[in-house]
Amino acid sequence: MFSAKVEQNQAYVIACGNEKGGTGKTTTSMHIAIALLNAGYRVATIDLDGRQKTLTRYIENRKNWSERYNLKLSIPTHEFIEPYKAETKTERDGNELAMFMAAVSRMEQTHDFVVIDTAGHDGYLMQLCHSIADTLISPLNDSYLDFDVLGQVDPQTGEVIRLSHYSGTVREARRKRRIADNGFLDWVIVRNRIATIHSRNSSAMISSLKSLSMKLGCRIADGISERVVFRELFPIGLTVLDDLEAATFGGKLNNSHLAARQEVRALISTLRLPIDEVGRKRAEARQKWLENADKPIDTMGLLAD
Ligand SMILES: Nc1ncnc2c1ncn2[C@@H]1O[C@H](COP(=O)(O)OP(=O)(O)OP(=O)(O)O)[C@@H](O)[C@H]1O
Ligand SMILES: [Mg+2]
Repeated sequence: MFSAKVEQNQAYVIACGNEKGGTGKTTTSMHIAIALLNAGYRVATIDLDGRQKTLTRYIENRKNWSERYNLKLSIPTHEFIEPYKAETKTERDGNELAMFMAAVSRMEQTHDFVVIDTAGHDGYLMQLCHSIADTLISPLNDSYLDFDVLGQVDPQTGEVIRLSHYSGTVREARRKRRIADNGFLDWVIVRNRIATIHSRNSSAMISSLKSLSMKLGCRIADGISERVVFRELFPIGLTVLDDLEAATFGGKLNNSHLAARQEVRALISTLRLPIDEVGRKRAEARQKWLENADKPIDTMGLLAD
């Protein structure tokens, strides 16, 4: 499917979604976007959570930090969808839909990836976003309370006995996508904020997720541990993938930072995104450009004749 998209010069769409709030959608969106930018891709981001605007704020913080210290951090092209105030739900949904589709079409011809952060509740925009995505990443706190939006489990065996609302939403999105262009939505569930000390809860969650993946045809990523670094980088707009020592002026990396970076990289590789030679070449070219950006332009070649 990706090769068809490349031929049509359409961006690959990654959505971060889960009907449960506070599972790590915004944190994950930002890390995926920066990973792809740093690998040389043209990345756009859309914040569908127009009320909280947390991804928008994260990116603004990054811009401010970069400008303040002349750091030349990679920044995605970003748009957010402002909640539309209207008398009726139909009018609101229609207007938000138009704004969202306009943002996607502005971005899809000129970027390789569009990363979309969604709000933690069901809604028209969220459903639409799921049906245009190529990859859906659903971060999930390592807790049965959060698991419940995906499926209900047998308390003795941990087997999924009933699918919940959000699973139904994703199934429906997949169906619509198949009808629209015969495309396939790759759904990857990522355990997030996993306790660094292994517990019985963790083993049980893994077994229930396996049962869920059999029922839904989704994939389960190894996951990201609970680490303070994910919380403290927001005000300066950085991610664990950035050169934190340079960007924080001598802040020393500890083992937890390195492990966090490793986990995010492992997640990116599990996603099996269409990352190839083109991106690597662009990354090299961008690096060269950045290295020479402050030097005077060499006009010798141009004036030789
Ligand atoms: N791996 C992690 N370790 C520690 N804290 C984390 C981790 N991932 C996310 N957090 C923290 O958990 C909280 C929720 O994360 P985030 O805002 O990314 O979730 P969300 O799903 O986007 O929430 P919402 O549904 O409100 O939009 C934030 O305080 C964030 O800093
Ligand atoms: Mg969020």
